[in-house]
Amino acid sequence: GEMTQEQVEQYKARIKQLLKEKDACLVAHYYTDAIVQEIAEETGGCISDSLEMARFGTTRPEQTLVVAGVRFMGETAKILSPEKRILMPTLEATCSLDIGCPIEEFSAFCDAHPDHEVVVYANTSAAVKARADWVVTSSIALKVAEHLEEQGKKIIWAPDKHLGGYVQKQTGIEMLMWDGACIVHEEFKAKGILDLKKVYPDAAVLVHPESPDSVVEIADAVGSTTQLIQAASDLPNEQLIVATDRGIFYKMQQAAPGKQFIEAPTGGSGATCRSCAHCPWMAMNGLDNIISALETGEGEVLVDEALIEDARRPLQRMLDFSA
Ligand code: 13P
Ligand code: SF4
Repeated sequence: GEMTQEQVEQYKARIKQLLKEKDACLVAHYYTDAIVQEIAEETGGCISDSLEMARFGTTRPEQTLVVAGVRFMGETAKILSPEKRILMPTLEATCSLDIGCPIEEFSAFCDAHPDHEVVVYANTSAAVKARADWVVTSSIALKVAEHLEEQGKKIIWAPDKHLGGYVQKQTGIEMLMWDGACIVHEEFKAKGILDLKKVYPDAAVLVHPESPDSVVEIADAVGSTTQLIQAASDLPNEQLIVATDRGIFYKMQQAAPGKQFIEAPTGGSGATCRSCAHCPWMAMNGLDNIISALETGEGEVLVDEALIEDARRPLQRMLDFSA
């Protein structure tokens, strides 16, 4: 249930104390609940997209990193900082893209096309990353694809077919595509957004490229979470229709104070809506389980050592490329 303001303050005070005691810092994704982002901010941690989350752990002196996000983010942190202890508020927080790309099938798919560079989205298991030549996040997906296109490469793209379709359209690179999608973004509907534009004719439409092609097509700005937050402040429009997880409003409001933010409509509502513009796995992160992870050390992310070595290569390649 809802917490009272007094409880919230008590929980926050406890987290601050525990972070100090345990030599830990907190990193949160833009899609987590506002209250989680707030405490990350108040404790000098980091709130960011998946690319900066990956880099963050490597730049901090603390020996423990608490990753508020979903499983692949914790694994990425562990792979890049294997000497550190990585805790997550819950290890149950997964991602439909990760679930939809099991290593056995994916590996067989790659084996069948040995002349292709393998590019995988960060939203994948450590094992899938270990099979890849490149890892990308939405912030640098286009740049990496352009780079490979210039070298005349053909690529396997996994697992997000919507992000892949967008990248293919923008760069013209030849792609073999895995059939995966994000359950949050695939719910956005162009028709609903166009109807909303009739009510708010001056609004700009901001779209994350995990959304279907028809939605990307009517966007005024397309990009990763960081890029959309930037666009919210850069665009002159006072009203913004936003097609991504509504957790992003916390930072967008800070970046563009005074503007009006409107959730892009999804296909269903109430019981018929699987995600309703908020990722059910991101929503599993709360003040209570941040506390219990720090208190008990449960929720530690462990990755097989052999996998760490192989998954680190394409991840480090991404970080070096984006530096
Ligand atoms: P970015 O923050 O990299 O845009 O990622 C979006 C996402 O869906 C993470 O789960
Ligand atoms: Fe995965 Fe989509 Fe949730 Fe991001 S928002 S973690 S891509 S299901």
